[in-house]
Amino acid sequence: MNSPELTQAFPSVETTALQGFPADASDAAAITTSRTPTVLFVDQSGQPGGAELCLLPLAGLCAARSEVLLLAEGPFRARLEALGVRVRVSSNTRVAAISKQALRLGWLRAIPGILGQIRAIAAQARQFDVLYLNTQKAFVLGALGKPLHRRPVIWHVHDVMTGEHFGRMQLRIVRWLAKYAADRLVANSRASADALIALTGLPAQAVPVVHNGVDASTFAAVDATDLVALRRRLGLPETACLAGLFGRLAPWKGQHIAIEAMTHLPDVHLVLVGAALFGEDAYALQLRDQAKQLGVADRVHFAGLRDDMPAWMKAMNLILHTSTEAEPFGRVVIEGMAAGRPIVAAAAGGVLEIVRHRENGWLVKPGDVAGYVEAIETLRAEPELAQRLTDQASEDVREHFTLDRYLQQLTQVIAVAKS
Ligand code: UDP
Ligand code: GLC
Repeated sequence: MNSPELTQAFPSVETTALQGFPADASDAAAITTSRTPTVLFVDQSGQPGGAELCLLPLAGLCAARSEVLLLAEGPFRARLEALGVRVRVSSNTRVAAISKQALRLGWLRAIPGILGQIRAIAAQARQFDVLYLNTQKAFVLGALGKPLHRRPVIWHVHDVMTGEHFGRMQLRIVRWLAKYAADRLVANSRASADALIALTGLPAQAVPVVHNGVDASTFAAVDATDLVALRRRLGLPETACLAGLFGRLAPWKGQHIAIEAMTHLPDVHLVLVGAALFGEDAYALQLRDQAKQLGVADRVHFAGLRDDMPAWMKAMNLILHTSTEAEPFGRVVIEGMAAGRPIVAAAAGGVLEIVRHRENGWLVKPGDVAGYVEAIETLRAEPELAQRLTDQASEDVREHFTLDRYLQQLTQVIAVAKS
C-alpha cells in the first residue's frame, strides 16, 4: 500500500499540500471542483456518535460530489441531510447486532445479511471514485467487497485496535483487511495509529494521523456572560458549581466514576449530557441507581442527548472526561477547551495528544476517583490556575484543533487515494 505524505503529531503539526488540492484551508471549498474525486462515505451507525460527528462536516464539504451510505437508520441521517448531503440507508438487523466484543458464533447467522451488505456497498461504490469507510464494520464490509467494486478504499480509524476494546477474531479480520484491502488509512490519533501499526506490522507512515477539529466560532457565538440566564434556559441549577460530563452513556466512558466523585464533593453538581446510543440502556439505569444509593441523586442531573454542545459546555464551571479505557481521541476534550472551561481528563490514549497536565488542562489516572476529586477541588480553590489552563487550552485549539485544518488534511487524503 502507498504511504501518504502526511504526518501528524501535536504539537508539531506538519502537512504537505498535495497537487490539485487546497494548500490553504480557506480554499477548502475547492473540494467541489470537477477535478476532485467523487466519494462514497459509509458509516455503520444512524446515531450521532463521535465518529459520525467527525464525518458530518467532511461530508457536508464534499456534498456536491459525494453520498453517504448508512448501515442503520437514525437521527444522524437528518443531520447530514440538513447540510445538503445525499444519504442512503442499507440496514440489516442481524449485521447491526454484531457487537464489538461479541464477534463469536452469533455472526454465522448474520452471513446472508453480511453478503447482502457487501454487495449493497459495492454496487453503490462503483458509482464513485473513492470509497471512504468511516467505521470499523463499514470498513470490513466495504473492504471485503473490493473485488466487486475495485475502488480505492480509505479507512478512517476511530478506534484503538487492542484487546482492551475488541475481541480476538475481530482484531484478526481487521489486521488482514488493513494490510491487504485498504489503500489509505488515516487515524484519529497517534494512539489509534500506533495500535493499528502494532496489530498489522505496517510501517508508521502508512497510518497518518489527522486529529479531529472543532469550529471555535460556534462556541464564541454563545454568550455566557449572564451565566444564570444561560443555566435557567437549560433548566440547570443557577448558582451551584457544575461539573459537566459529555458523551454517550457507556461503561467505558466512566460516568460511574464521576458519580462516585460527587460523594466527596458535597456542593458540586454533576451534569451528564448524553444518552445510551449503542444499546447500553442497562448502564444508564445503573447510573441512576448508583446516584440514589450513594445519596447524590439530587446533585446528579441527566440531561439526555443534546445537540447544542457549546451552550451546555459554557454553562458549566468545569468539564470532566472520565473514560476508563484508552480514549481513541476524545472530541469532547477539544470541545471543552474551545468552550473555555477547565478540562479534567483521563490520562490515556488520544487525550495525551491533547491535554498537558497543569498546562492546558488537568490529567487524572483513568478510574481514579480521588484524582478527580483533587482536580476539582484544586481548580475551584485556585481560579487563577483554572484561568491559565483555559487560556492555554483556547490557544491550543486555535493552533492545532481547527475544523479547517482537519478538513484540509482529510480532503488531501481523499485526493491521494484517487491518484
Ligand atoms: N455529544 C452530543 N450530544 C450529547 C453528548 C455528546 O452531540 O448529548 C457529542 C459531543 O459533543 C462529541 C461527541 O458527541 O462531539 C462524542 O464524541 P467523542 O469523540 O468525545 O466520543 P465518542 O462517543 O465518539 O466515543
Ligand atoms: C470514536 C472515538 C472517540 C473519537 C471519535 C472521533 O468514536 O471513541 O474517541 O473522538 O471516534 O474520531
